Amino acid sequence: MELRVTSLPGDGIGPEVTSQAICVLEEVASGFGHDLELDEKEIGGVALEKFGNPLPDATIQACLASEAVLLGAVGSQAFDHNPRELRPEAGLLRLRQELGAFANLRPAVFYPSLAGCSPLREEIVSGTDILIVRELLGGLYFGQPRSIEGSPGERQAINTMRYCEPEIERIARVAFQLARSRRRRVLSVDKSNVLECSRLWREVVTGIGRDFSDVHLSHMYVDSAAMSLVLKPAEFDVILTENMFGDILSDEVGGVVGSLGLLASASIGGPVGIYEPVHGSAPDIAGQGVANPLGAILSVALMLRHTFHLPKEAECVEAGVISTLMGGFRTRDLARRGERTVSTEEMGAQIAEFVRLAANTKSRAAS
Ligand code: IPM
Ligand code: MN
Repeated sequence: MELRVTSLPGDGIGPEVTSQAICVLEEVASGFGHDLELDEKEIGGVALEKFGNPLPDATIQACLASEAVLLGAVGSQAFDHNPRELRPEAGLLRLRQELGAFANLRPAVFYPSLAGCSPLREEIVSGTDILIVRELLGGLYFGQPRSIEGSPGERQAINTMRYCEPEIERIARVAFQLARSRRRRVLSVDKSNVLECSRLWREVVTGIGRDFSDVHLSHMYVDSAAMSLVLKPAEFDVILTENMFGDILSDEVGGVVGSLGLLASASIGGPVGIYEPVHGSAPDIAGQGVANPLGAILSVALMLRHTFHLPKEAECVEAGVISTLMGGFRTRDLARRGERTVSTEEMGAQIAEFVRLAANTKSRAAS
């Protein structure tokens, strides 16, 4: 099979973790007999520096011409004072829009070998396996009007939270569908005691839920959900929520399972999926070779599953991550006091090696 992928390493630790994810993807391709066609382009701060545009046309064209996008991270303090459209983040938001990626899937799984990494007691975090389904193209991120205006000392800022029924319907369907391959529970998170958007959200999600009578639907306010996530994370299955709430809760579950560096994401729903780790550009550790590449590598697994429909290959990458963690390999974010740490590259190499061996064993067994 042909795998046409555009890689957008981006800013900060993006290039370091992306190059490890690509090593793993290359190993998958050669081990399982696929043709990998890779094209690398710029996004975010690096694109601003080179072209004065956080999402150059050449990047959009390359992404649209491929089947999947592997993204590193976007964000750089150098552009903090730029107007909104000329910030690195604007490139990512526009890319999501251009590719119609309205459904952002963010799985968070607790690995028993990382019990010591979670700030929560093992008996609480044990068994945690959450899928956040975050709406990605609506709400406060994109709502109009938006502005800062007025004279100094008297300025006012406006953002608009806006959702229409079809936007809620389509993301709800994604969540219910995915719940069918899991524990068949959807928790819809909103703030319907205060916000109109959330009242509509709850009504529409409830309506869609009737088409999925085999899936259990419940609702929770976002403040309460934020607390429950640290009190009883293992009770959650699929969390369905709007853009901003999903952004916040997904970082929280990163903390719950031990490190944000572990979390992968898939942004799908349009013609081309975007796969990226949930962590940001982490400028404080960029270029040191200490970043955790597992979020990026697990994003490759999501790409194999959701874009290329290659579940065996996806499982192989995930098994490589589990085996590497069980083998005691820890990047700095995962290491406890006194534990030996490995570099970004060493961590990536472990998973690539696992995939190589697993694919070899498989082809020998087949012949
Ligand atoms: C994320 C990030 C982005 C977001 C930023 C970089 C625009 O925090 O993917 O979670 O807020 O969506
Ligand atoms: Mn975020």
